[in-house]
Amino acid sequence: MKNPTINILLTISFLLITTTAAATPWFENLCICKKNTTKLHFYVHDVRSGPNATLYNVANSSITATSPTGFGRINVFDDKVTAEPDIASEEVARAQGSTTSVDLQVSAASMNLNFFLKAGKFNGSTVTVVGRNQFSDAERELPVVGGNGAFRYARGYAITRSYSNDAATNYGVLEYTIYIRTSRKCS
Ligand SMILES: *[C@@H]1O[C@H](CO)[C@@H](O)[C@H](O)[C@H]1NC(C)=O
Ligand SMILES: *[C@@H]1O[C@H](CO)[C@@H](O)[C@H](O)[C@H]1NC(C)=O
Ligand SMILES: *[C@@H]1O[C@H](CO)[C@@H](O)[C@H](O)[C@H]1NC(C)=O
Ligand SMILES: *[C@@H]1O[C@H](CO)[C@@H](O)[C@H](O)[C@H]1NC(C)=O
Repeated sequence: MKNPTINILLTISFLLITTTAAATPWFENLCICKKNTTKLHFYVHDVRSGPNATLYNVANSSITATSPTGFGRINVFDDKVTAEPDIASEEVARAQGSTTSVDLQVSAASMNLNFFLKAGKFNGSTVTVVGRNQFSDAERELPVVGGNGAFRYARGYAITRSYSNDAATNYGVLEYTIYIRTSRKCS
């Protein structure tokens, strides 16, 4: 048997919602129902040694030195990000975060990567990328799990690959193409 009190309350709240909706479409200001996809494309500069280094090895595990994959190594970086491959070109963001070598069999890192955008209409916003990054794959896919500013509620993925690497000078350039979905208010 249904509870008559609940039935009455449901009827009242239905009437209230119907009446309010007819008067002012309040839900149009609340619902988040449209999706944007934003594509970002840029180059990350890993300067691993020298006076202008932006990436530092901060910790090793007890087996890092003997592990074929450098297991347990932790690097922290604040890399310059540019729209063009040339490091001297205009900075559009910083890539700030850390990598941890997490695979005993192959070289792979667990990523904690925050793109802090510094130019264009998303200046000041961040995009957060995490995930498993296996360096032997020419192209790697990493999840975008969030962001702030323009990228609140962000979801998406990043495709990254090595653009160039100079082992002699410890300098590598990584290309990133990122597809980010955000929600926006109905208009
Ligand atoms: C370090 O950066 C400075 C300023 O941008 C530059 O003049 C210098 O050539 C750089 N040094 C190296 C080793 O890249
Ligand atoms: C980690 O080990 C490497 C050699 O495997 C060494 O060059 C580096 O200085 C060590 N890093 C730290 C933070 O101890
Ligand atoms: C980005 O925003 C910062 C802080 O508001 C500002 O100082 C800077 O000039 C802006 N950069 C560009 C390229 O608009
Ligand atoms: C979402 O779309 C709106 C309207 O086209 C645009 O103004 C805004 O910059 C977009 N936001 C993102 C994060 O792409």
